[in-house]
Amino acid sequence: MTQAQTSPSIHPPSAPVQEAALVAVQQVSRIYSLGSAQVTALNNLTLEVPQGVMAALKGRSGSGKTTLLNMIGGLDQPTYGDIRLFGKFLSQMSAQEITNIRRHRIGFVFQSFAIFPAFSALENVELMLRIAGIHQGRRERAMRSLEIVGLGPGPTTAPGNYPAGSSSAWQSPEPFRPIPT
Ligand SMILES: Nc1ncnc2c1ncn2[C@@H]1O[C@H](COP(=O)(O)OP(=O)(O)OP(=O)(O)O)[C@@H](O)[C@H]1O
Ligand SMILES: [Mg+2]
Repeated sequence: MTQAQTSPSIHPPSAPVQEAALVAVQQVSRIYSLGSAQVTALNNLTLEVPQGVMAALKGRSGSGKTTLLNMIGGLDQPTYGDIRLFGKFLSQMSAQEITNIRRHRIGFVFQSFAIFPAFSALENVELMLRIAGIHQGRRERAMRSLEIVGLGPGPTTAPGNYPAGSSSAWQSPEPFRPIPT
């Protein structure tokens, strides 16, 4: 029976290979402990984001958006459930693997921190590329990333000179960087 389920006759080589979802969230809950209280930030959430789509997450304040994104990025772990990123369970990855994914394949645009105020917007973005070990074309890529989010060129503009809210867009060029092949 087990053999039959994995038989090539069920998944013939000529059949299109089903690509794993980029992000697969399976029955995820996140419960924070706040003193003696328990805060259920996410309750049994399941969703998939396929490759090649642009997805947006929206919900009222406190609905758990940041909580979810933190877990998808491996910055936090679910209390229950599992998350797969690029087809692999985050719970089975080492801290180094997750760090490498964050460094090379995904990026966060934080709302209010992780900006170096003494650096220009361009330098803030370039710093991430430097950490990722990218040497060639770094400045051009950083400028392109800023332009994509409507903050370019402004190479000498310090974070405080941009409108409130826009400063968060500098911290990582990763979302806008082609994934290395
Ligand atoms: N570290 C924490 N400890 C305890 N409770 C937390 C913690 N972080 C978030 N929460 C609670 O979890 C719930 C979800 O918070 P979260 O920040 O994920 O919401 P959000 O959708 O990102 O909100 P916003 O739109 O305001 O950014 C809220 O009730 C929040 O108060
Ligand atoms: Mg939030």
